[in-house]
Amino acid sequence: MNRSHLIIAIDGPAGSGKSTIAKIISEKMDLLYIDTGAMYRAITYAVLINNINGEDESAVNRMLKQIDLEFKQNDQNRIDIYLENKLINDQLRTHQVDKNVSLISSYAKVRQHCVKLQREIPENYDVILDGRDITTVVYPETPYKFYLDASVDERAKRRLLDAKNKEDLSLEEIKKDIIRRDKFDSGRELSPLKRAEDALYIDSSDMSIEEVADLIIEKCRK
Ligand code: DC
Repeated sequence: MNRSHLIIAIDGPAGSGKSTIAKIISEKMDLLYIDTGAMYRAITYAVLINNINGEDESAVNRMLKQIDLEFKQNDQNRIDIYLENKLINDQLRTHQVDKNVSLISSYAKVRQHCVKLQREIPENYDVILDGRDITTVVYPETPYKFYLDASVDERAKRRLLDAKNKEDLSLEEIKKDIIRRDKFDSGRELSPLKRAEDALYIDSSDMSIEEVADLIIEKCRK
């Protein structure tokens, strides 16, 4: 693919700060921000509200063909997600979605559907995407690849402080969920979370969000 436009790809485990950092960079550099985890979350949310058994891969595949799921750019340079014409951005970070999203996102058809959309970004857009397979599968050709990491304790603490943790989960519960998701996302057969050899590894455990954002911006401006 011949692209002359900027694509910044960030991968990393749950709670590594990817989305907060990607939003800051998108604002500072005027880039479209694509939160690819939100796409997998939206499909998981659809599975849950349609009472589909998430363990039944064929049922999930059938549902995928039937639902009306749309991703639209909004005026904040981000993606709004609509299910059956209803905005669902705020429904995607519940504990229920957290618990089921790793399984649903491990299915081949679900991945094909999302990766296709992620690759369809118009050629004239400068974008930043974050996820688990952006540097390895979705845009391995971009020179701007980053792998963001942090210790499990630090990631759980960040999730606890996150304003979206509306369900008052304890630190231990969050930590358990993060460890479970790390294991599943890195161990799955299709496009597992892993460090691309040529991605810059950043351990953000002892860095502020601004420091990480500035480091990535500096690397992309060179
Ligand atoms: O980044 P997140 O926590 O919102 O991602 C939710 C889940 O979606 C994550 O546990 C694995 C899956 N995911 C994926 O498989 N590939 C991506 N590019 C992004 C997310």
